[in-house]
Amino acid sequence: MSKLILLLLILFLALHPSSPRPEPYAMRISCGARLNVHTAPTNTLWYKDFGYTGGRPANASPTSYIAPPLKTLRYFPLSDGPENCYNIKRVPKGHYAVRIFFALVAEPNFENEPLFDVSIQGSQIYSLRSGWSTSDDQSFTEALVFVADGSLSSCVHSTGHGDPAILSFEILQVDDKAYYFGSNWGQGTILRTAKRLNCGSTLSKFDADYNGDHWGGDRFWHKATTFQQSSGKVRSVESKIKKASVSPNFYPEEIYQTALISTDSLPELSYNMDVDPNRNYSIWLHFAEIDVGITNVGQRIFDILINGDIAFKDVDIIRMSGGAHMAIVLNKTIAVNGRTLTITIHPTKGNAIINAIEVFEVIPAESKTLTEEVGALQTLKNALGLPLRFGWNGDPCVPQQHPWSGVDCLYDKKNLKWVIDGLTLDNQALRGFLSNDISKLHHLQSINLSGNSIHGTIPSSLGTITGLEVLDLSFNFFNGSIPESLGMLTSLKRLNLNGNLLSGRVPAALGGRLLHRASFKTATWAGLGFSIFQTAQRPM
Ligand SMILES: *[C@@H]1O[C@H](CO)[C@@H](O)[C@H](O)[C@H]1NC(C)=O
Ligand SMILES: *[C@@H]1O[C@H](CO)[C@@H](O)[C@H](O)[C@H]1NC(C)=O
Ligand SMILES: *[C@@H]1O[C@H](CO)[C@@H](O)[C@H](O)[C@H]1NC(C)=O
Ligand SMILES: *[C@@H]1O[C@H](CO)[C@@H](O)[C@H](O)[C@H]1NC(C)=O
Repeated sequence: MSKLILLLLILFLALHPSSPRPEPYAMRISCGARLNVHTAPTNTLWYKDFGYTGGRPANASPTSYIAPPLKTLRYFPLSDGPENCYNIKRVPKGHYAVRIFFALVAEPNFENEPLFDVSIQGSQIYSLRSGWSTSDDQSFTEALVFVADGSLSSCVHSTGHGDPAILSFEILQVDDKAYYFGSNWGQGTILRTAKRLNCGSTLSKFDADYNGDHWGGDRFWHKATTFQQSSGKVRSVESKIKKASVSPNFYPEEIYQTALISTDSLPELSYNMDVDPNRNYSIWLHFAEIDVGITNVGQRIFDILINGDIAFKDVDIIRMSGGAHMAIVLNKTIAVNGRTLTITIHPTKGNAIINAIEVFEVIPAESKTLTEEVGALQTLKNALGLPLRFGWNGDPCVPQQHPWSGVDCLYDKKNLKWVIDGLTLDNQALRGFLSNDISKLHHLQSINLSGNSIHGTIPSSLGTITGLEVLDLSFNFFNGSIPESLGMLTSLKRLNLNGNLLSGRVPAALGGRLLHRASFKTATWAGLGFSIFQTAQRPM
């Protein structure tokens, strides 16, 4: 028996001399599609739409020839809530390129070009700019994120300029160490692709079009035959480039087979791009010496300046890469205060050359809301029958630009998590009941549910929210008696229960001790139309 296993093992090893790295995880979703889709020319599989929290399917009108050739999209009218998400489960722990293509709803009466915000794992990564649908590399957003807990969530947030619309959602695994740039790199940061240029190339292409390694994450390389400021001349070769497709970034060899080279009359090459101010950017510069006649160390030397500061001094590609037709990548992360990023190749010997440029915005990953509290809010959402327009999808507190409405958040510095300290849902036409799970929101200081049609009893679990200072349940249909447990709320400053259908006696603790410190408004014993309103002075 064991001999047989050994034999099989030897046979297996003989047939697979060096077992290749497995294929990376890839999940592609065709938003709004009712069936799986295969697209040409690579026969790529796009799953039918799943994992969304709301929105509606519609036909897509493509914006850019680089968008995948899909026919449907999902759009999110404001009446479905201001934030909607894709929540994908069972994503293996790892490092991922997440890419979302936008599109326009193919119907005449739809406002063109919705502008909205996009978040991944609770961090806002992108705001669509007006004019995006006419610019190829703005028809999608892409970011590198880590998945630690098996799920990946990405949300769109309405900004009041049309309905967000999503053509596709891709989750492509990359190397665990991809784009390692130094000590700040890791789980705490997200890298959003701001620009990726294949200098000297006349065609824009994806890694897949270059037969690139799948572990590269199928990057999009925008053609660049000129920089606005300094034109340069295009050089392209067919020779093999060594050290291109290596770990951890697996760049396609072809991006090194073209370059922009400055001319004698204008020896500097300078690339300018607009950026959002006061952010950190990680800049990756690609070189391979492909110029005829430059074969030795010392023939071409240049400094690289980023926004005027020297980032790399005396770069000599042949010396650093080991020879002609060998790839080398330099990376530098810098803070940018202004609205422009300028990369200048300033030669001190020969002309300037550049093969490719990548610019990432370094985004600090937001802390999330305490899981137990998110769960409690979801239970409350269902129990209270919160209208669709509230949304309440994704994370309640982050991105900080788009918290759930009616929810007040507080950052708990000790646990590095957000918690809920206020619930303000007065006059929202809520018709459900108040779930006992409200007590799982341990950090609540204030609850106002006044002026709704909430029925059922007041949960006695409220008595365990020890920090509660304000509890206003007035003008609802709460019935039964006031729970004794409310007497345990020693921090309570205001308690409004008037305008309900409560019966029985006022708990002794409320009627006695508490009244000395709290403003206490209770009400109406059923049928009697009788109400008490008392305000007590704090003890002097
Ligand atoms: C990027 O640069 C940092 C330091 O500047 C270096 O430690 C790191 O290895 C570089 N990353 C890659 C992938 O070359
Ligand atoms: C930029 O990086 C520096 C140092 O790594 C850090 O202190 C700063 O908070 C970062 N700024 C932003 C906006 O992320
Ligand atoms: C709760 O909301 C109602 C209605 O908007 C408001 O009148 C009341 O003052 C609020 N209660 C507290 C304790 O702030
Ligand atoms: C409270 O009202 C509900 C109906 O909304 C009823 O079923 C229940 O018996 C009432 N409870 C009390 C204690 O009156």
